[in-house]
Amino acid sequence: MKQSPRPNAYRDHWAGGLTSADVGTQVRLAGWVNTRRDHGGVVFVDLRDRSGLIQLVFHPDTAPAAHAAAHDLRSEHVISATGEVVLRSPENVNPALPTGEIEIAVRGLDHLAVSQTPPFPLDEDGPLDETLRLRHRYLDLRRDSMSRGLALRHALIAAMRSHLDARDFLEIETPILTRSTPEGARDFLVPARMTPGSFYALPQSPQLFKQLLMIAGYERYFQIARCFRDEDLRADRQLEFTQLDIELSFVAEDDIIELIEGLMTDVFAVGDFPVPPAPWPRLGYDDAMLRYGSDKPDTRFGLEIVDVTDLVRGSQFKVFERVIDGGGVVRALNAGPRELSRAEQDALNPIVARHGARAVAPIYVSDTGWRSNLEKFFSPEQVAAVNHKLGASPDDLLLFVADREPVAAASLGALRLELGNRFDLIPAGRHDILWMVDFPMFGYNDADGRWDALHHPFTAPAPAHGQTELSFDDPGSLRSRGYDLVVDGVELGGGSIRTHTPEIQSQVFAAIGMDEAEAESRFGFLLEALRYGAPPHGGIAFGVDRIAAIIAGHESIREVIAFPKTASGSDPLTGAPAPVDDKQLRELGIRLASRPPTPA
Ligand code: AMO
Repeated sequence: MKQSPRPNAYRDHWAGGLTSADVGTQVRLAGWVNTRRDHGGVVFVDLRDRSGLIQLVFHPDTAPAAHAAAHDLRSEHVISATGEVVLRSPENVNPALPTGEIEIAVRGLDHLAVSQTPPFPLDEDGPLDETLRLRHRYLDLRRDSMSRGLALRHALIAAMRSHLDARDFLEIETPILTRSTPEGARDFLVPARMTPGSFYALPQSPQLFKQLLMIAGYERYFQIARCFRDEDLRADRQLEFTQLDIELSFVAEDDIIELIEGLMTDVFAVGDFPVPPAPWPRLGYDDAMLRYGSDKPDTRFGLEIVDVTDLVRGSQFKVFERVIDGGGVVRALNAGPRELSRAEQDALNPIVARHGARAVAPIYVSDTGWRSNLEKFFSPEQVAAVNHKLGASPDDLLLFVADREPVAAASLGALRLELGNRFDLIPAGRHDILWMVDFPMFGYNDADGRWDALHHPFTAPAPAHGQTELSFDDPGSLRSRGYDLVVDGVELGGGSIRTHTPEIQSQVFAAIGMDEAEAESRFGFLLEALRYGAPPHGGIAFGVDRIAAIIAGHESIREVIAFPKTASGSDPLTGAPAPVDDKQLRELGIRLASRPPTPA
């Protein structure tokens, strides 16, 4: 704790801040009973407050009343105690505890509140049922790992604010009740009572407002912003999450990248998270998709993917030939000298199937070529060329996928991650950081038969590779001025230089299949603002939950959010989401098409 508490009727010191230098001091402490042990007469209580733990000793001879009262104490009761800081005898020193050299010889005890027995132990870090933890989150949050996580999160946000404040950024709040901001997820809608039949949308991000702030001349904006996206939840996704949102005017990519390298270096230092020093490498999208099968590659281990289409073209192997003739690719990775059982090999198929590939073809390298019944379909030159390109040695396991390019890339990318984990290829304590750049502007959406903006439609397009002018004739060839920051295979943040002229913004809307009327009705306010002198601008947003989780070493962002939702989007503590009564619905002019199920 940074400051001593103001002395009052409950406490005058923090428990965790006392040391042997305080021996002889009379103190009053307040907090929870962490544990209580009765050692044949003497009662020991570990008292816990936010600063830490200290041992209280209740002696029957020196403080009979307090000792008698201590018999009623149980875990999680709330107390305030007075006594003297004394040294522990050498055999009782607890080196695992910062206050382990001392204890409090208690004189007086106030028993302030009792507690029911907690439904799970609070002083252990063992596996616990998450629904139970969330149902009693106020107890779960008493656990040391949770309070450390939230304190870390606070320190990281404080570092962000102080870094940006020192660089003249203004923190400005933007609305929560607003219109849809397209970030690619479904909106949460809020019925507008005063305009029956109309809805506010909760912001998926403050994207449009921060651009309007640039047009308004604020030049350097940031916000710790809550965002809402109705999407399927995963370990790194919540329905509501927090962004560090940033926007600047009169800048290009390098200005923003340099700002963020300084900012994030500070943030990582506060979290004691060792990343390589900036400047961080920049990796092009095409390169990343080819080598890692991902636009957020985990570069902490090798197992890089290699394209062998040209080397195997013209073989007798029908499966590869059919794919190549259809414009697809054959890609492979060298898993090294691994011997997989038949069952282990078969278990690789579902991994690639999730990304649309039919199967993995495993081939073992021999002294002379391949130890595989597929060898006969290829010429010795083809086998040798593939082995050479994959850096293969005898007994190495090569894994091939033949499919459409995006499918082959994504499935081998998933396989690579799975094998990296399975073979324990990530060196302990290693962290990698990189910028992803040179994204395509648009990706083709097969389901809807149209182009989608890969970042969001306000990202500025860049000319196709080899071109100097923007041309929307072939949207698929356009690049974007976007960038993402990736740490250990996790996308921590992403942003772009924005379109700042109404003409190009309209062309982007047209390219994603939005006709003028629709563009005007959804984003007319932005197009209009762009006509009033919009500066060149750009920005970025980071997932604060993801930053805190990765620094704290947690798989799930739920561990660094005080009150998160479960994977099904519910809150077991409050019971949200919950049905509302008919009167509320009537006021909103809403009639339900079906009754919600009655809660069990
Ligand atoms: P983007 O959609 O990439 O960009 O989001 C930025 C960052 O927010 C985090 N994030 C999430 N974290 C938890 N749960 C979620 N459901 C979730 N979705 C996203 C990620 C991600 O990198 N307006 C743009 C930014 C910009 O262009 O300036 C945007 O929101 O860490």
